[in-house]
Amino acid sequence: VDDTRVARIAAAITVFPGFPKPGISFHDVTGIFHKPEVFRDAIGLFVERYKGKGVTLVAGIEARGFFFAPTIALELGAKFVPLRKPRKLPGEVISEEYSLEYGTDRIEMHVGAVEPNDRAIIVDDLIATGGTLSAAKRAGAEVVECACVIELQELKGREKLGKIPVFVLVETN
Ligand code: PRP
Repeated sequence: VDDTRVARIAAAITVFPGFPKPGISFHDVTGIFHKPEVFRDAIGLFVERYKGKGVTLVAGIEARGFFFAPTIALELGAKFVPLRKPRKLPGEVISEEYSLEYGTDRIEMHVGAVEPNDRAIIVDDLIATGGTLSAAKRAGAEVVECACVIELQELKGREKLGKIPVFVLVETN
């Protein structure tokens, strides 16, 4: 994205090498929320991209997708749907598995959250291997695009998403 706001967002992200374990560098987005003007920059970039595109559903992925998705949904006049870690949602759920480095995990969504004509975007803080978003896109709506703040490009996560485009604010390795 070519926008002066992106530099302010990138400056508010802190990288913690070796967290949560050796070999992983954690990209922490919480600094974005310490500065309301930077939070506004991030939400503005997403809202400007999707305004007028007929988006009716904004899905946010637990946990850090929840930092962004409800505000984007409110601004777009769309519904917010949480995609949650296993066994958090009561009632009937759709469950989609995805692979991790070792083993698998799942995300779950309420049955009925998606209606037949919904046009969705899926929001998260970061795309790494793309496993999480690839599970999210199978949950049942027409997915217009996946939207993330950060992309770890070396991990080629967007290849897992096939034809679904990925929009990111900050690209890094
Ligand atoms: C992180 C991140 C994304 C996902 C991206 O979440 O917030 O949701 O990993 O990785 P992927 O593209 O390889 O799937 P994490 O697993 O740390 O869960 P949390 O947000 O509940 O801490």
